[in-house]
Amino acid sequence: MRIGSVEVKTPVLLAPMAAVTDLPFRTVVEEFGVGLTITEFLSADAIKHGDSKTTDKMTPSLGGRQFGVQIFGRTDEAMIQAAQLAVSIGASLVDINMGCPAKRVVAGACGSALMRETELAQHLVRIVDEAVGPNVAVSVKHRAGWDNAQINAPEFACAMVEAGAKLITVHGRTRKQGFTGKSSNEIIRRVREEVPSHIPVVGNGDVVDVSSFLRMREETGCDAVMIGRGALGNPWLFRSIKAVTEGKPDPGTPSVEERYDVFKRHISHILELKSGPKLVHEVRKASAWYAKGYRGCNALRQRVWKIPNAEDVLQECSDYFEELITCRVS
Ligand SMILES: Cc1cc2nc3c(=O)[nH]c(=O)nc-3n(C[C@H](O)[C@H](O)[C@H](O)COP(=O)(O)O)c2cc1C
Repeated sequence: MRIGSVEVKTPVLLAPMAAVTDLPFRTVVEEFGVGLTITEFLSADAIKHGDSKTTDKMTPSLGGRQFGVQIFGRTDEAMIQAAQLAVSIGASLVDINMGCPAKRVVAGACGSALMRETELAQHLVRIVDEAVGPNVAVSVKHRAGWDNAQINAPEFACAMVEAGAKLITVHGRTRKQGFTGKSSNEIIRRVREEVPSHIPVVGNGDVVDVSSFLRMREETGCDAVMIGRGALGNPWLFRSIKAVTEGKPDPGTPSVEERYDVFKRHISHILELKSGPKLVHEVRKASAWYAKGYRGCNALRQRVWKIPNAEDVLQECSDYFEELITCRVS
């Protein structure tokens, strides 16, 4: 798939997820063959005001791998500044969030609220497109619409493309749905049908395994799929999708040994790349993701949530995984 001048080799993207898709998470997923990762959404206003908590999250992928940055906002100066900062750190793609349903974002008339202001949304795409220059693509991620009475994704996507967007991502839920109910493949299909064929459309919503990936592609005709929650503690999903799309056998789910190895690698990325008081929380979150589904995982989760430092959380999880491995082999 091509997005402007950017080539995405595997048709699967990691969804931006606030407080989840930080650099350690993106790095692990990249190692398993995802086509492209995108930072979590970053407030353009916060960037304009030099808020270091926000700018610290705008991190380039390691090893010179291509990546995208997602921004949200609605004022020219802030959006231009945020987009230019993304370009300055090497982003290949600047994605504008027009899908966030969160009250605090919508209250500021940003995120999915922009789906009710098509002209302003187009204006934002134009100014960001101009700010990033010809080598960086601008994309828009939006929802099916505001609510069931206002499903406007196909027209809205076409308006964004007319303004300069080189890629459209649609999550098949309305703003009102939040994360409830089902994501509609039908609305994604309609967007793919109406957007000019040279512009890739990415389908998003409820893809958690190879079969839902294949179903999304088949039912919608989308050029690629974006995966969010299904990737938590499951970077192997990208390996499987890569293999299947290359016509190779699906390597399947990992053994407990492999899961433990990747957990350790993820933690080592966290310890190397992050610091500050939230570090222990990051390690706890990762431990819950990788242990999910194994015997005793809930008890482990409760134990690690009470442990105050990262090293001891890691030790507790190592004991847990080693016991799982020993019990399985003995
Ligand atoms: C914890 C969490 C944080 C999210 N943060 C963002 C975000 O920063 N930007 C965005 O466009 N979407 C965000 N989303 C929405 C996802 O990108 C995605 O559209 C949604 O989860 C549906 O895809 P899925 O069913 O594969 O998870 C977030 C979702 C979750 C669960």
